[in-house]
Amino acid sequence: MTPGNYYATPELAAAYDADSEGRRDLDFYLDLAAGLGAARIADIGAGTGLLCSLLAGEGHEVVGVEPERTMLSVAERQEHGASVSWLHGTAEKLPADWADLVLMTGHVAQYFLDDGAWAAGAAQAARALRPGGRLAFEVRNPAAEAWRNWQTAGSRRTARGTVRTEVHRDGDLIIHVDCWAQGARTWTTTETLRFPSRKDILRGLDSAGLTVDRTWGDWDRSPVNPKSPEWIFLTHPV
Ligand SMILES: C[S@@+](CC[C@H](N)C(=O)[O-])C[C@H]1O[C@@H](n2cnc3c(N)ncnc32)[C@H](O)[C@@H]1O
Repeated sequence: MTPGNYYATPELAAAYDADSEGRRDLDFYLDLAAGLGAARIADIGAGTGLLCSLLAGEGHEVVGVEPERTMLSVAERQEHGASVSWLHGTAEKLPADWADLVLMTGHVAQYFLDDGAWAAGAAQAARALRPGGRLAFEVRNPAAEAWRNWQTAGSRRTARGTVRTEVHRDGDLIIHVDCWAQGARTWTTTETLRFPSRKDILRGLDSAGLTVDRTWGDWDRSPVNPKSPEWIFLTHPV
């Protein structure tokens, strides 16, 4: 059977927040938005909308855009989901010249699988920024090889069941296949993520007319070093 899409599987999407418990990026992005005084925020690949909901709860005006309806239906039920404007689709759907801050969190930037897709994604994000606005996002540092920890020897417990993961590498692409179980139900899903080089990221940003303000190497705001788990970028139009 062809593996499915995790984000289009209602039972898996419903467990995403529980499976991501303890994530440290949320406070980072809430602090960043507050520090920048960003009134209007657009979140590309908003997923289950947890960050959008938290941002709306802090008084920001928020638009969340997400290509999977299954994820959006979870998002709409978040605590402050009714205060967020939800859009079905990708960054093309965002209004132009609107946002003080555009976000791509949860490593959404790694879903752009080649230079052309990344350049187009960055250009759409830039289009949504009003003058003086910022784009913030992160990718995993390829040198930290996070995918090595994704492969499971057997099954690992999730919030609602178990998962067994196989990982394959093809150049800068990592393909993982996950076999999920919740009680008697099982699903096999797959996804491909790109681990772009710093040069690849900067080339795409440059083609979108964006330049880097600051980078961090982790959610504690530590500087980037060769072993940093994350490359977190804050950028603005040139
Ligand atoms: C790992 S989840 C992250 C969700 C959310 N941003 C978070 O931080 O929890 C990745 C999300 O990106 C979405 N996605 C995948 N490709 C995308 C694209 N080209 N544009 C926008 N979103 C995309 C997926 O549907 C999924 O909801």
